[in-house]
Amino acid sequence: MPTSPEVVASPVELQRRMLEARARGQRIAFVPTMGYLHEGHLSLLREGRKRGDVLVLSIFVNPTQFGPSEDLARYPRDLAGDLAKAASAGTDLALVPEPAAMYPDGYQTYVDVREVSKGQCGDRRPGHFVGVATVVLKLFNIVQPHVALFGDKDYQQLQVLRRMVADLDVPVEIVGLPIVREADGLAMSSRNAYLGPEERQHALALSRALAAARARWAAGERDARALESAARAVLEPVPGSRIDYVEVRDAETLRSIDHAERAVRLSLAVFIGKTRLIDGETFSWK
Ligand code: PAJ
Repeated sequence: MPTSPEVVASPVELQRRMLEARARGQRIAFVPTMGYLHEGHLSLLREGRKRGDVLVLSIFVNPTQFGPSEDLARYPRDLAGDLAKAASAGTDLALVPEPAAMYPDGYQTYVDVREVSKGQCGDRRPGHFVGVATVVLKLFNIVQPHVALFGDKDYQQLQVLRRMVADLDVPVEIVGLPIVREADGLAMSSRNAYLGPEERQHALALSRALAAARARWAAGERDARALESAARAVLEPVPGSRIDYVEVRDAETLRSIDHAERAVRLSLAVFIGKTRLIDGETFSWK
C-alpha cells in the first residue's frame, strides 16, 4: 500500500513547509484540483511525480468560481477516496483548506485576466475565470511550486492561467497535459457522476463531434464555420441535449477566426440533460 499523502488544512502552515523545502533545494510540483479525482487528475499527478522532489495536490471546491445558479453545493466530494488515489500516484502532501481559510472575512482581492477570459465559458459563466485565476494565484503563493500541471480538458482555463503567469511574472512553469478519456471516448470529468445511464450514452456525442470535425480538418477543411458545422451536425440530433457553444478559435489567444492559418482549438460545451459537459481538440499542421 502506498503511504497516504499528509493532509494539511492550513494554508499558512503549508506555505511555511514549502518555503523550507525550497530552501533545502527541493523542486516542488503542484496539481490543483477540486477533488473527486479520476484518471485525468491522476495523469497530472503522475507527471508531477516525475518533475518534482515534492508533489503537492490541492483539493478545494473553490466557491468564487461558481455562479449563483451553479453546482457548488452538490459538487461531488470523496476525500477518503481522493487520498487513496493520490497516494497511488505518489503524492506527498494534500492541501485541503476550508473556504474560510482561503477567503477570510474582509477578503477583497481578485485577479482579472481580460481578453482570453472572454467568450466561451467566460461569457456563459460570468466571473468564473476571475474566481479561477484568483484561487490559482493564491494556491501558487501558498505552495510555491516550480512547476504546476493542468489538463487540456479545461483549455480556456489553461490559456487564462498561462496569460496570468506571464503577465504577473509568476515564477512557475505551467504544463498542459492531454485530455484523458474513458475507453469509449468520453472525456473524464468529475461531473460525469451526474449523468444517468441514458445520458451517459448521449454524452458520447461530444467526442464523436470532435472526430467529425477532425475528419474534415484531415481532408483539408480550414474554414472555421465549416469545421463547427461538422461538429454541430453530430450534436444537434442528440435527444435531451442543448448546445451551449461550438467554436473554432485561435488555439493560443482564443480569438475568433474565420479561416485557420495556424493551430486552432475546437471547443464544445453541451448540456446533456441538466449536466454541462465540455470537450475540445486542437487541430494543427504538425
Ligand atoms: P478540476 O475540475 O478538479 O480539475 C483539476 C485539473 O484536472 C484541471 O487542470 C483539469 O483540466 C484537469 N482535468 C480534468 N479532467 C481531465 C481529463 N479528463 N484529462 C486531463 N486532465 C483533466 O479545474 C479545476 O478543478 C479548477 O478550476 C482549479 C484549477 C482547481 C481551480 O479551482
